[in-house]
Amino acid sequence: MEILVLGKPISWLDGVDVRTGEIVQRDHPQRGTSIAGRAIKIPHSIGSTVGAYTFFKLVRNKAAPRKIILEKPDSITMAAVLAGIPVEMEHEGPVEELKVEGVPENFVRYLEKEASFSSARGFVRINSVHLSGISYATIGEEGLDFLKKVSKDARFRVLATTNPAGMDLKRWRKMGIPEDFAEKQLRIVRLLLKMGAVPTFTCTPYLAGNLPTFGEHICWGESSAVSFVNSVIGARTNREGSIKGIVAATVGYTPLYGKHLDEERIPNLKVDMAGLKGFTEFSLAGYIIGREYPSAVPFVEGVHPSYEELKAFGAAAAASGGIELFHIEGFTPEAHIFSVSGNEKLKVEGSDIIEAREELSSYNGDPDLIAVGCPHLSMKELMYLAELSNGKRTKIKFWAFTSRSVLAQCQGTVKMLEKAGIEVYADTCMVVSPLEKIGFRRVVTNSAKAAKYLRDLRGLDVMILPLEEIVKRFFIS
Ligand code: F3S
Repeated sequence: MEILVLGKPISWLDGVDVRTGEIVQRDHPQRGTSIAGRAIKIPHSIGSTVGAYTFFKLVRNKAAPRKIILEKPDSITMAAVLAGIPVEMEHEGPVEELKVEGVPENFVRYLEKEASFSSARGFVRINSVHLSGISYATIGEEGLDFLKKVSKDARFRVLATTNPAGMDLKRWRKMGIPEDFAEKQLRIVRLLLKMGAVPTFTCTPYLAGNLPTFGEHICWGESSAVSFVNSVIGARTNREGSIKGIVAATVGYTPLYGKHLDEERIPNLKVDMAGLKGFTEFSLAGYIIGREYPSAVPFVEGVHPSYEELKAFGAAAAASGGIELFHIEGFTPEAHIFSVSGNEKLKVEGSDIIEAREELSSYNGDPDLIAVGCPHLSMKELMYLAELSNGKRTKIKFWAFTSRSVLAQCQGTVKMLEKAGIEVYADTCMVVSPLEKIGFRRVVTNSAKAAKYLRDLRGLDVMILPLEEIVKRFFIS
């Protein structure tokens, strides 16, 4: 059988046209090639963990590959098995038995297969799961069907928090969400709650009650949250696909490999970021590193970041690449434990930031929406936005996204923001809500991750500006 060998990792969420199977990823050397009906070999996937549902869409559209051969274990691509696409690993280990009673048999077999693919050192009990793939805009009818099927038997055994949905679950009408979309979204939410999911609906679950400890084994989806807990907290998780999250929350175990092991947490790329500061510069630096070294463990020198800058950095590095973990000299908890292996080096400076900003921005002039909160805004960020906009009013529709947990604690700040014309929404974000269906075409944001997905997934025109610049340009006193 002829095998199509893909020279670069692929982002399943936005790198393949699900109607035809054609590779559409902008930076992919085989862009334009179709994977439909072919046996393909890929290094691994990059980008969003929601890409796991793409296989169901490809199968439904008769555009799926005939077989996938993986070079590196990757639970997002492995979900293809549950959609009926055979997945093989270049070098598989022996199959070890996982003995767990009272859970769906196919879930246990799935974890055993993943363990064999990854030559895992057995299985480890996990303390929490964070589920991605909650929005109807990203998982579609195929995702809803999958959840309907599995929710008949699956009941979660560990804390399982939820990523943002496709709309503010209380104020979706104010957002202009179409009724038919809302109805599907609410069905997804009901199915997840039936299985035992905790309704956090945020990509910052560590600010909403799901806060692991150093060294704890967990199983998280949502690539931005994965990089934050691995790097800033020192918990241990691989970048898990949406479907794997449901399986692991039900069974309570995951195979012990990858970022669960010391040797996979050793940095292998020195990055000099001296002189960079602020949310948007950190976000664009993460975007550049992920694009250039998609599977690296960066060791960053020359910066003294805030938590907010780190969440921006990790989110973008995991969106343009598959970065699951980074270390910051003198700051993150494992930076002093491991020394850098190899001689790979990268310097990211102001001129690179300007270039990346231009690469991601597709227009000048006025947007029809300003959208911030990717990842979801922390209390500090909401307060900073209130301070910046105090005494001013936005000329353009302005949406700020946060978690319901942060929103509940910041009611006074929210009132100040509303005075400035800023609408604060919870449970959703600009990427997983159907902005194009609401009628938006041109968005300005301060986040490289949001810009990438708004352009590549939602097909919108985007512009990146730091928050201070947004307020300067689009607010009146
Ligand atoms: Fe969060 Fe949505 Fe960005 S889920 S990381 S705000 S794309």
